Amino acid sequence: MVDVAIQAMSEWASGGDNANCGGSFAAADASDALLERTRQTVGQLLGANPQGLSFGANMTTMTLAFTRAVGVTLQPGDRVVGTRLDHDANVSPWRIACERSGAEHVLAPFDSETGALDPQSVIELIDERTKWVAVTGASNLLGTATDLAAIIAAAHAAGARVYVDAVHLAPHRTIDISALAPDALVTSPYKWYGPHAGVLYVDPELMNSLPIAKVRPAADTGPRRFESGTPNLEGIAAIDAAARFLLEEGMERITADEREVFAPLLSGLQSIEGVKVWGPPTLDGRVPTVGFTIDGRTTDEVSSALAADKIATWAGHSYAVEAVGQLGLADNGGVVRAGVVRYIEDDDVQRLLTSVERLAR
Ligand SMILES: Cc1ncc(COP(=O)(O)O)c(C=O)c1O
Repeated sequence: MVDVAIQAMSEWASGGDNANCGGSFAAADASDALLERTRQTVGQLLGANPQGLSFGANMTTMTLAFTRAVGVTLQPGDRVVGTRLDHDANVSPWRIACERSGAEHVLAPFDSETGALDPQSVIELIDERTKWVAVTGASNLLGTATDLAAIIAAAHAAGARVYVDAVHLAPHRTIDISALAPDALVTSPYKWYGPHAGVLYVDPELMNSLPIAKVRPAADTGPRRFESGTPNLEGIAAIDAAARFLLEEGMERITADEREVFAPLLSGLQSIEGVKVWGPPTLDGRVPTVGFTIDGRTTDEVSSALAADKIATWAGHSYAVEAVGQLGLADNGGVVRAGVVRYIEDDDVQRLLTSVERLAR
């Protein structure tokens, strides 16, 4: 978490305004104002109508609740289209909703060589029975960025709605919901220097009509309809601060700076004999995350050796279960995943490359 978010969380918790929303006294008013303010700030960050933004526990919890509601609207014969590039949090919730309603769940493949998701491979699965398309903005395993505009346009033309998993996209790229016009888009502030939480945008009209499971006194309309129970107010104070941090830094500058730090990581890994980079081979069509393997070494072995050098990577499927399956890596350890974010510097990249070179020898 960025310092300003830690401070905001701590100041909220110690500030004395720790009441629930909706009261007729100052502390409750302050909570109402905090929610309103944070919706405005996150709306600015994501180019979204603030009245479409709900706060929750994390992306997975919010997506499971959302798909439970969508599932009530699905019928046998309906279709939901997903992709094999997606994190399982944007696959299994839809699969469960389809299984329970009798709808069909189909997944579009990506290109195993380049990690790219050809929009056409999604579009050709969208037919007149398709009610929803669930697609990622960027792969957390390979770094692939997807062509959301093409997929959303095709889905809407066919009368289907679109749910975008922007968890891995949001820390790296500008998102403009008003231009993209997805029906729903979800992100996790802890991926952009904020607290452990989730933020879900849902088109306000859709939000009001979805059969969401809620308690009777909860709001019937607006974003509070989806925010079950007492909001995580200190977390929301930190979301506000983290979003302000990103707005001040400027997403375009972050994208450009990260690209500069990432370029030698990608080319460095590609030039080490015995190292295979999985996913997009160039800086185009990707965010600064890379999956790789080293010949003759398990991914756990590599990740543990890197940890001993004080380099944190993930080994395995990173919950992108379908993606490692399509790559044929499900039974042999997936990939080692490394990435650049705002606080990663050139020296960190060089340390990683030096360690990988040693391990590949
Ligand atoms: C692309 C992607 N989608 C979804 C998730 C799940 O997010 P959360 O941890 O907020 O449930 C993650 C988490 O790493 C992710 O990387």
